Amino acid sequence: MTLSGAILSLLALLVFLSAGSSAATLSARRDTILGSETFGDVANFSTFLLDRTSGMLFLGARDAILAVDTKKLNEKNPLKIIWDVSDDKRKSCEGKGKTEGDCRNYIRLLEFLGDGRIYVCGTYAFDPQCAFLNATTFTLEEVDGVVRMESGKGKCPFEPSQHYTAIMADGLLYTAATSNFLGTLFDISRATGPEQERIRTERSINWLSDPEFVSSAFIEQSAGNPTGDDDKIYFFFNEVAKEYDFYTKVKVPRVARVCKSDVGGMKTLQRRWTTFLKAQLVCEDKPSGQRYNVLTDVFTMQHIPGDPSSTHFYGLFTSQWEQVDLSAVCVFSLSDISKVLDGPFKELKKSCDNWINHEPIPSPRPGQCLNSALKAEGFESSLKLPDKVLTFVRDHPLMENSVTAASLLVRKGISYTKLAVNLKDGSEERRAAVLYLGTDRGELHQVAVVGQNVTLLQETPLFTSQEPVNNILLHKGHALVGSPLSLACVQAEGCALYRSCEVCARARGLGCVWSTKEEACKPTTEE
Ligand SMILES: *[C@@H]1O[C@H](CO)[C@@H](O)[C@H](O)[C@H]1NC(C)=O
Ligand SMILES: *[C@@H]1O[C@H](CO)[C@@H](O)[C@H](O)[C@H]1NC(C)=O
Ligand SMILES: *[C@@H]1O[C@H](CO)[C@@H](O)[C@H](O)[C@H]1NC(C)=O
Repeated sequence: MTLSGAILSLLALLVFLSAGSSAATLSARRDTILGSETFGDVANFSTFLLDRTSGMLFLGARDAILAVDTKKLNEKNPLKIIWDVSDDKRKSCEGKGKTEGDCRNYIRLLEFLGDGRIYVCGTYAFDPQCAFLNATTFTLEEVDGVVRMESGKGKCPFEPSQHYTAIMADGLLYTAATSNFLGTLFDISRATGPEQERIRTERSINWLSDPEFVSSAFIEQSAGNPTGDDDKIYFFFNEVAKEYDFYTKVKVPRVARVCKSDVGGMKTLQRRWTTFLKAQLVCEDKPSGQRYNVLTDVFTMQHIPGDPSSTHFYGLFTSQWEQVDLSAVCVFSLSDISKVLDGPFKELKKSCDNWINHEPIPSPRPGQCLNSALKAEGFESSLKLPDKVLTFVRDHPLMENSVTAASLLVRKGISYTKLAVNLKDGSEERRAAVLYLGTDRGELHQVAVVGQNVTLLQETPLFTSQEPVNNILLHKGHALVGSPLSLACVQAEGCALYRSCEVCARARGLGCVWSTKEEACKPTTEE
C-alpha cells in the first residue's frame, strides 16, 4: 500500500474534525516566534532560503534581505541588507498608475549560485532587477559603490503578489513568471546562462492559458542512469482549461516537464522548449466523487532518499466551486506522471480530419528527453530534431490522460496555504509520514499518515489570524515557519511533542506510547 493509495475514510474524518479544536495547544517551551519587535519595520517576507550546513536562513522581504542564524534565534538580531529603490524610481512607477505600496523592491527570489553567492531578485518598482549576495560577508556585490544589478525580466515578477516559481538547476535559473509590466505575458523559461540557450514557452494559449504558477522541482535523473536519461524540471500550476467549452473559466491543475539539455529547435521552435509537455492533475475524493481543482502548494520528496525515481509530489488543493474553505492533499508519484507524459497526446485542433483520426505521432517521439539511444541515432541536440517532430510538439503540448490520485486528507472549514512532509523510517508497506500544514490564519497543523491511517496530531497557533503561513522548511527536527510578518521555529519531531495521553495515543503509528509512570509521551523503543 502506497501513501498515494491511502484514503481517509469518512468515519476517520469525523473523528478527525471533532478532535480538531481540542488539539489546539499553544506550545511554549522550545518554540521561538520572532515578529516586529525583532524585525522592526522590515515586513512582507515572502522568500526563504536555508543554508543547511551553516543553519543560516535568508529571508526576502520588502526592500530588504535578512539573515537569521537558526541555531541562535533568540540571541542575535538578524543581519539586514537594505536594497530599495530611489525616490525618482518610485515616483515614475507611481506615475504609471501603480500604488505607492507596490512601487517598492519586493525580494521574490533567493537562490544559491553554487559559488558561495546567492542570486537575489526583486520587483524593483515594477522593473525587476537581480543582484549578487556574498553569503560569507552578507553583502551585495557593488560596482563603483552601487549595487551591481542585472535585468530581472523573466526571472522575477513585476508585481509583488504575482504567483511565481523558480528553481536553480546546476547553476542555471528556471522560472515560471509573468514577463511584462501589464502581467499579461506568461513564460516558463531558462532565465540565465548563455543568451542563445535562454529558451521559453511558445506564447500560445495551448501552451499556457492564464496560468497561476505554484511550484517547481529539479529532478536529477541522469546520474548513474544506464539509458543516459536527461535531468528534468517540473512545473506545477493552475490554468484556465481550454479543452472544455464552458461559459465559466474552469481552472485545472497541471504538471509540466522540460528537459535540462533542451536548447530549442533549429527552425521550428527556435529558442523555445522542444520538450514542453503538460498533463492535468486530478485530486479526487473517491467516495464522494468531489474533485479539488485548484492547486495551492507542492512539496517534493524522495520516498527513498538518494533515489530520484522515488520522487513523490505532495499537492495541496482546494476547490474553485465551494463556498466554504476546503483543503485536500493528494500525492502524485513521478512514475505516474512519466507514464502519462509517455502516453497519448490530446488533439487540441478540432478539425474534421483529426477529430476521428489522430495525427500520426512522428519519430523520434515528440517531447521526449534526449538519451543515449537518440544521440546514437544522430540527435545529439534538440537543434537536430526534424521539423515534423517539432511542429507536432508545438501543436500538442497537452497529454490525453490525467495523473490521478485519491485524496489522502480532506478538511472542511480550513484553508491550508503551505505544506511540508517528513518521512519516518519504515518499510514501503508501513510507511509513516508527518504532514506539516500551514493555514491562512497563522496556524501549523501536524497530521500523521501511517499506511492508510490519517490522524490529526496537533493544531498550533503561531501567528495572529491575519497572517497566512507562506513558508515551511524542515530542518534538524524543527519546522521553520514564516508569514509576511513573522518567523517561527518550532520543535517538529519526537514523541515528547505530544504532551497529553490523548495526543500521544494518536501518534501511536509514529512509534509513540504514553508512559503513565513518567506522565510523558515516549518512543516505543524505550519501553
Ligand atoms: C505589505 O505589507 C503591508 C503591511 O502588512 C500590507 O498592507 C501590504 O498589502 C503588503 N504588500 C504586499 C504586496 O504584500
Ligand atoms: C565574498 O567576500 C569575500 C571578502 O570580500 C571574498 O574574499 C570572497 O571571495 C567573496 N566570495 C565570493 C563568492 O565572491
Ligand atoms: C490503522 O488503525 C487501525 C485501527 O486503529 C489499526 O488496527 C491498524 O493497525 C492501523 N494501521 C496501521 C498501518 O497503522
